[in-house]
Amino acid sequence: MVKISVTNLAGQTRDIDAEVGLTLMENIREHDFDDLQALCGGCCSCCTCHVFVTKGMDKLDPREDDEANLLEDSEHFDDATSRLSCQIEVSDALDGLAVTIAPE
Ligand code: FES
Repeated sequence: MVKISVTNLAGQTRDIDAEVGLTLMENIREHDFDDLQALCGGCCSCCTCHVFVTKGMDKLDPREDDEANLLEDSEHFDDATSRLSCQIEVSDALDGLAVTIAPE
């Protein structure tokens, strides 16, 4: 388990014990953050799992082309912090990561 800080759309922050091997999206959903809809179930086709990485962006692999294309079409895209949480596999290296769920 690794600690990841998650902030919802109302600005409330909670630390979750994230399970290694699952995606960040799956972990956020498992911890009852309903703001993160993840409508496509992780197929990288909906952009409703968009988060802003506010701490630890340097620990993540760069965006793949599919992820980057979806994010760049979002009106809330921020080049420095935007990621699709379904494209991030949680590993021990991500301990201490902090994310904020992006508006739709
Ligand atoms: S859940 Fe649809 S793109 Fe991530």
